[in-house]
Amino acid sequence: MNPPKTTRTASTPSSTADAPAATPTISEPRQVIQSENFNYDANVSPRIDSELIASYEGGPSGGRKARAFTYRELAAACCNFNPECFLGEGGFGKVYKGHLESTNEYVAIKQLDPNGLQGRREFLVEVMTLSLADHPNLVKLIGFCAEGDERLLVYEYMPLGSLEDHLHDLLPGSKGLDWATRLKIAAGAARGLEYLHNKMEPPVIYRDLKCSNILLGPGFHPKLSDFGLAKVGPLGDKTHVSTRVMGTYGYCAPDYAMTGQLTFKSDIYSFGVVLLEIITGRKAIDFSKPAREQNLVAWARPLFKDRKGFIKMADPLLEGRFPPKAMYQAIYIAALCVQEKPNMRPAILDVVNALDFLANQSLAASEKKSP
Ligand SMILES: Nc1ncnc2c1ncn2[C@@H]1O[C@H](COP(=O)(O)OP(=O)(O)OP(=O)(O)O)[C@@H](O)[C@H]1O
Ligand SMILES: [Mg+2]
Repeated sequence: MNPPKTTRTASTPSSTADAPAATPTISEPRQVIQSENFNYDANVSPRIDSELIASYEGGPSGGRKARAFTYRELAAACCNFNPECFLGEGGFGKVYKGHLESTNEYVAIKQLDPNGLQGRREFLVEVMTLSLADHPNLVKLIGFCAEGDERLLVYEYMPLGSLEDHLHDLLPGSKGLDWATRLKIAAGAARGLEYLHNKMEPPVIYRDLKCSNILLGPGFHPKLSDFGLAKVGPLGDKTHVSTRVMGTYGYCAPDYAMTGQLTFKSDIYSFGVVLLEIITGRKAIDFSKPAREQNLVAWARPLFKDRKGFIKMADPLLEGRFPPKAMYQAIYIAALCVQEKPNMRPAILDVVNALDFLANQSLAASEKKSP
């Protein structure tokens, strides 16, 4: 069970040189939702969200139509939101484990908290993005409920929880993830991001990559989740999308935080932070540490330059069980991703290829050890 988190940031960029497009906040009286995918005026449209979403067919990327559920069906699936079914809580609201009698499948049901940090706009973006998407490294949206003021999302159930649950605040005595599993998760998450950047039409910037949004299935198969902040990437010869700064403190690229200019390289920075967490076992931001160590990237930067000292970066829970060369290469990939200048960061396909190589190498080595 996870405690509630309130780590989301939404701030106005400090630079006004290229004023970001004003994105209406949830509290504005007239909520006009616009994106390159769809336009929706919540006050003018007589149709409720469910009709709008239901009329939206899966797109060219091969996505599936999400199923519209009634509130009754979903309440029955999780025994009326029984605390025993509670899985965790984020900015959108509480998440419950449920069982759908009609299809005999386990699901995760996310219930929008009307007083929460996120709202109906993110609900729609989530449904739209996941209806367009279909990839083994993206969590499947089974359906949604938009009845009256209720907004619920229904996902495939991911039995091993989030990557965050396996990296941080482990119970005393519990074993951390081994090196091969860490690489498998990193490579799979990169593949999910590569799909969003390169295969979706139109391409999508995820904007919310973090350990709690990488969910784990059987065998630690990773899937990206939470697409409420996703944005259609720059089109034509544009290099960025101007937008309000949204994301999670510690994962947000400094260039995007300063200017509001969102690029695919903003996601690459967040991926680098996640990779550093996977390698070091440290949190992106940890106020329980001494001041110099609170920000993971700031702590890691001087160590990137110290070729001999990189072993010091490894998670102590690994107890030295990793090939030093592969560790060095993984740290090198992370260092490239978190570079200050966005155009110096690699494209996601290069990250996928490098991590796939490392993951396959370590899988082969562990299979050799235990035939
Ligand atoms: N499909 C799922 N299967 C199993 N558990 C899930 C699923 N989706 C979410 N959870 C659990 O619920 C927790 C809360 O998820 P949620 O996405 O609402 O918040 P978060 O990612 O922790 O924070 P934020 O809202 O800032 O993104 C997750 O950490 C995870 O443990
Ligand atoms: Mg999440």
